[in-house]
Amino acid sequence: MPEDFLSQNLNIFDRHHIWHPFTQMKDFEHRDMPVITRGEGLKLYDNRGNEFYDCISSWWCILHGHNHPKIKNAIKEQLDSLEQVIFAGFTHEKAIQLAHELLYNLPSHLSKFFFSDNGSTACEVALKMSYQQRLNNGEKKTKFIAFDRGYHGDTLGAMSVSGLSQFSRKFEGLFFDCHRIASPYCYRCEFGCKSGADCNLECLKPLEKLLREKSSEITAIILEPLVFGAGGMIFYPVRHLENLIKLVKAHDIHIIFDEIATGFGRLGRMFAMDFLDENLRKPDFLCISKGLTGGFLPLALTITTNDIFNSFFDDYEKNKTFFHGHTFTANPLGCAAALASTKIFKEENTLENIRGKISFLQKEKEKFSELPIVGDVRGMGMICAFELVKDKKTKEPFDSRLRTGWKIYNEGLKKGLIIRPLGDVIYLFLPLSTQKTEISYILDTLFEILKDFR
Ligand SMILES: Cc1ncc(COP(=O)(O)O)c(C=O)c1O
Repeated sequence: MPEDFLSQNLNIFDRHHIWHPFTQMKDFEHRDMPVITRGEGLKLYDNRGNEFYDCISSWWCILHGHNHPKIKNAIKEQLDSLEQVIFAGFTHEKAIQLAHELLYNLPSHLSKFFFSDNGSTACEVALKMSYQQRLNNGEKKTKFIAFDRGYHGDTLGAMSVSGLSQFSRKFEGLFFDCHRIASPYCYRCEFGCKSGADCNLECLKPLEKLLREKSSEITAIILEPLVFGAGGMIFYPVRHLENLIKLVKAHDIHIIFDEIATGFGRLGRMFAMDFLDENLRKPDFLCISKGLTGGFLPLALTITTNDIFNSFFDDYEKNKTFFHGHTFTANPLGCAAALASTKIFKEENTLENIRGKISFLQKEKEKFSELPIVGDVRGMGMICAFELVKDKKTKEPFDSRLRTGWKIYNEGLKKGLIIRPLGDVIYLFLPLSTQKTEISYILDTLFEILKDFR
């Protein structure tokens, strides 16, 4: 196909040959996907002159806005010297500088950095390291604990320790066994708590029981600190997480914090774990990706402790090596972007500057609770979410066949907002660079969409 013909018919070629992720392609049988040609700040522009507010940070990764000059230039500069190199038996400056920079943002016990290239693999690495550490030490601890609304990625290992959703259930036959426990979900509290004040964390009881009965077979618990993201933007209290950590730490069980969505300021501090008491900020593994490069390039890290590392450190013949790696592990362009993004936090005082915007967003979101279809309004940091219900009193959800969230997504696009609901939970997951005026505009537009929705 000649190139100029192709450029006139991008959507036709796309429809015939490209299979998009998490997409029922039949929904696009007679409809064109926007062809995005440019990004700037909070906005994305398509080839037909439309512009969109990127209210979900392009799948939760953009931090300082699209096309940030410092990250762009860091990548350009890196391109002049080294674009890729095998990371087994070789190393490079940008990976070292990045690890050095991150050390200062992390609790001191997290000091060993294992690179990979996306969030799912960062979690796979943590699961495999925890499992192999037990083998290397001659222990028989092979099982994991996970939450039924947790999400850790789409590879089989990550899915095995995620919740069973409409999307993942089909693959259940391929999963390894794990102990799945009920997630705290304050809006739909099983124990009838109506507010923080009357909550005595009864939802931790099943975990207590599991630990009493099975801790000797369990190697690790994996969790997203403070918010189950893909599970429905369900926030849970710091107090819950602190008590969970105390319970788990009383047994010999690794804690894996998946901060792939929450890392790098999204909740208002560098990491979600920074809201915890310092003594409890002690995961054995920390998984980060998405915002690591400011959202510019794929890169991930699984960061762990000397203790874990030392269980693998031995003569080759002892067969303790961690045999895991990906082609683009620690890609130099990704590391250069990540280094630039980490420096922006310091140079632009990002975490201080977002405070006012966060208070504004979290206050303004409350007006949505007056809408008849909004059952719950929740949020933290630069995230807020609205759970839509058929009946506000009984909290009865809409029939999923109505695809209410999908309809609202389409209304959003017509009005220039990219929102991508999780079922019937509509949420904003905003870049840290979003300005108050933009927050106002987005909230007002979304309010009108939800107000008029029939
Ligand atoms: C908490 C969490 N973990 C893991 C992942 C998987 O990351 P990736 O899509 O880069 O594989 C995601 C993605 O949304 C996530 O939110």
